[in-house]
Amino acid sequence: MALSFLPLAMFLLRTVTEGVQWPEHVVCTLPHLRLSYVSCDPLQDIGFTLDHCPDLFRRKVHSKVSFLLRHSIEEVYLSVDLFVGNAEPVHYDETLCLPHIQRFTFCGQKKGELLNQDWPLDVKLAPPKGHFIAQIRLINQDADQIACANVTFIFG
Ligand SMILES: *[C@@H]1O[C@H](CO)[C@@H](O)[C@H](O)[C@H]1NC(C)=O
Repeated sequence: MALSFLPLAMFLLRTVTEGVQWPEHVVCTLPHLRLSYVSCDPLQDIGFTLDHCPDLFRRKVHSKVSFLLRHSIEEVYLSVDLFVGNAEPVHYDETLCLPHIQRFTFCGQKKGELLNQDWPLDVKLAPPKGHFIAQIRLINQDADQIACANVTFIFG
C-alpha cells in the first residue's frame, strides 16, 4: 500500500526541488516575427501582453506587465542579458526605481500587491534575421529577485 504512494511522493519532491517549468507564452506571431517568453522565476509566472504585434504601419504598441510582488520594491534594478548565437551575452543594467527617483508608478509598491504597469512602446524594428534570447530580471534593494523572464525573439 505504502509503495503505491512512492512514485507520487517522488514526483512531488522532484517538482519542489527542481522548481517548476512555467509554460511558454506566445505574445506575437507574424510571418516575420515571433515573440514569446517563459518565466525564469522558480516561484511565479508573469503576465505580459501587447495590444497588437508591431509592424511597419502600426509601430506604437501598448504593452502590459503584471505579476504579484513577493517583496516590497523601494528600489528596482533591471538586468538584461542578450544572447545571440554562441557569443558572450551582452549585458545591460538600468535603475528603474530609487526611494527619491520614482520613474514608474509601481515604484514603492509593497509585498503582496499586484504590479500592473502599462508601457507604451514605439517599436522601430529593423533587426537582422535570426533568433535572439534575452534574460530579463528585476531585482530589489535587498537583492531579491522580483521577476525573471526569458524572452525569445525570432525575426524571419
Ligand atoms: C533562461 O535563460 C538562462 C540563460 O540562457 C538559462 O540558463 C535558463 O535555464 C533559462 N530558464 C528557462 C526557464 O528557460
